Order: sequence, then structure tokens, then C-alpha cells
Amino acid sequence: MRKPNIAILGATGVVGREITKIVDELKIDFNEIKFLSSAKSAGIKLEFQGKTYTVEEAKPESFDGVNIVLASAGGTTSQKFAPEIVKRGGVLIDNSSAFRMDENVPLVIAYVNDDDLKKHKGIIANPNCSTSQLMLVLKPLHEKAKIKRLIVSTYQAVSGAGLAAINELTDNTKATLAGEEFENKCFKKPISFNVIPQIDVFCQNGYTKEEMKVVKETKKILHLPENLPISCTAARVPVYNGHSEAVDIEFENEISPDEVREILKNSFGVKVIDNPDNFEYPTTRDASGVDPVFAGRIRKNLAFNNGISLWCVADNLRIGAALNTVRICQKVIEMELY
Ligand SMILES: NC(=O)c1ccc[n+]([C@@H]2O[C@H](COP(=O)([O-])OP(=O)(O)OC[C@H]3O[C@@H](n4cnc5c(N)ncnc54)[C@H](OP(=O)(O)O)[C@@H]3O)[C@@H](O)[C@H]2O)c1
Repeated sequence: MRKPNIAILGATGVVGREITKIVDELKIDFNEIKFLSSAKSAGIKLEFQGKTYTVEEAKPESFDGVNIVLASAGGTTSQKFAPEIVKRGGVLIDNSSAFRMDENVPLVIAYVNDDDLKKHKGIIANPNCSTSQLMLVLKPLHEKAKIKRLIVSTYQAVSGAGLAAINELTDNTKATLAGEEFENKCFKKPISFNVIPQIDVFCQNGYTKEEMKVVKETKKILHLPENLPISCTAARVPVYNGHSEAVDIEFENEISPDEVREILKNSFGVKVIDNPDNFEYPTTRDASGVDPVFAGRIRKNLAFNNGISLWCVADNLRIGAALNTVRICQKVIEMELY
């Protein structure tokens, strides 16, 4: 198998740092690696696999000879550099929302819709974090009983909004406890001791952009019909890391909670913790820092025919961004798609 030259674009950010760690953990077999950021962090030294690298400012020439770019530097940066990367024969695996709904760009969760990777034309998109964790759970259930209707409520950690948001939770909490005034910058409302029912901006239909991402991306990844009803409510909670989701699914065909448990126990990337009698169910503290998507509270939904409700928790920085990006990179190398 050929060994690619790799670049990590946005290497100094929350997701970029996680990508760097996971490239090492998944033992990605590369020829050369480079770390790119904006001018702000250029020059920073970074230790990786026993060697010291200097972070470079991303410029078009940075992508000369680079085969695979793992990008988490925001949509504007991805849009700016995508043509430069593709022109040079590279493959961009992008974490931003810039290309996700582009019909020429595969939107992929590794081990869910790998075949879509074969259709790439130089850009592959990584789904939004709240969609990502859901896919590993929904795919095997959809295969068994066919999704008819889906309602998702998310409880999302601040790490999903970047480093500045993590710091804002700490500073806002300290200020609240000290009885001091605090000016919120990342969120529209105080995040300390609060739940904010807004992630991203509002759309004309009253949903937020984040909620509509779950609706649209789920359909694209699972190849569901455009008219299949999906609804989502997304809230930001004062948790550092790990997104939680309450998921209500109506299926075409009958499926029992025991069957769901059995299917998910045998599914790639999913771990079932479901013994409420012993207070065993997944929480963000179980999920933060590890790879599986956790499922629990699996029960018959009382409002739907053939309905199942469950609770799904995962590390949004890993499966929701960095882990899936690096797994896609692994697949691109294995399937020789670069
Ligand atoms: N956090 C999540 O859970 C999550 C999940 C899925 C997707 N994403 C997406 O991933 C991206 C990064 O998120 P993050 O949370 O890691 O943000 P972050 O912590 O703010 O990091 C941003 C990174 O992008 C770099 N950057 C900014 N402007 C640049 C430019 N013009 N040229 C080159 N590099 C530039 C920054 O470099 P400097 O250090 O020089 O500023 C930094 O390395 C966003 O698109 C976000 O939507 C995040």
C-alpha cells in the first residue's frame, strides 16, 4: 500500500489537536506529515511521535505534494484552500459545514456509508457532531426495521463550539460563584448553570441551523427519502465535553427493545450500557475521551407504533469530529482513493 503525505490544517485548534492524537492512535501509515494553522499560531512547536514539528501558516503552496489534508479550520478556510488542494491532486477531508450538502461531495461516517467515498472528486465531508454519533446507532437499526420517523433532542457540550467556548464555561462559572458580572462572548445567554435552546443561527422555519444539519445530514448519510419526517431540538448544556441525545424512532417493522440491545451490542463503534435497575446508563463522563458511541435507556416508545426510545452519548470531539476524520483517512488509504 502507498504511504501518503498528510497535512493537518487547523492543527492548533480543539479538533486539530484531537486529530493529531488519533493519527498516532490509529497508526496511520504516512510518508510525511505537516501541521498548518493561521498566521497567529505559526511558529509554535508541536511534539508528535517523538519528533518536534513547527506549525506553519497555511498558504496554497503548503499543499504541494500533499496527498491527504485533514482540515478543521472553519468553513471559510476550507472554502479558500479546497480548490488549491484539489488542483494539486490532494484529497480534502473536511470538518466544516462548507461542503456537507454539496451533491458532489460524499458525507461519510466510516463503517456506515464507506461506499460513498468512492464517489469523491477531491473533497470528502465529515458530518456535524450531533449527526455523527447518531449514525452508528441508527444504521444497524434501519437495516433491520427501516426508519419511518425520527425525533432527536440534543444536549450538547461546549467543546463543540471550540476552545474559546470551553474557557467561557470555566470563566462564567467562576464569575457566577463569586457573584461577579460576566460578559458572554461565545453564547447568547450565560452558559453557567444554564441550558440554552439555541445552537447556531435560526432559520426561517423556526429551527436552528444545527437542528437542520441533523435533519438533512441524516437523510444524506443513510440515503433516506427526502420526505421522511425528522425533527430535532438542539440545546447547549454546561458540560465540557460529550454530547447526549434523546432519540425517538418509529420503524416500518416491529422491533423490540431486546432486539435493539442485541443489534447494538454487535455493532461496530457502539457500546450498550443499559441496566436501569442498577442505575447503569451512559453519561457524558463515560463517553468523554473514548471512542464508542454509548446507547442506553432502550425502551418501547409509548407514542409511536413500532417505536423505540433511547439515550445516546458520545465524545463529540472524537466521533463527532476527529475520530471520524481519521477513520475516513484510514479508509481512503486502504481503499486507495487518493
Ligand atoms: N469542536 C467540535 O466539536 C467540532 C465538531 C465538528 C466540526 N467542527 C468544526 O471544526 C472546525 C474547527 O473547530 P475547533 O473547535 O477546532 O475550532 P478552534 O479550536 O477555534 O480551532 C480553529 C483552528 O483553525 C485554524 N485557523 C483559523 N483560521 C485559519 C486560517 N485562515 N488559515 C489556517 N488555519 C486557520 C486555527 O489556527 P490558529 O491557532 O492560528 O488560530 C486553529 O488551528 C470548525 O469548522 C468547526 O465547525 C468542530
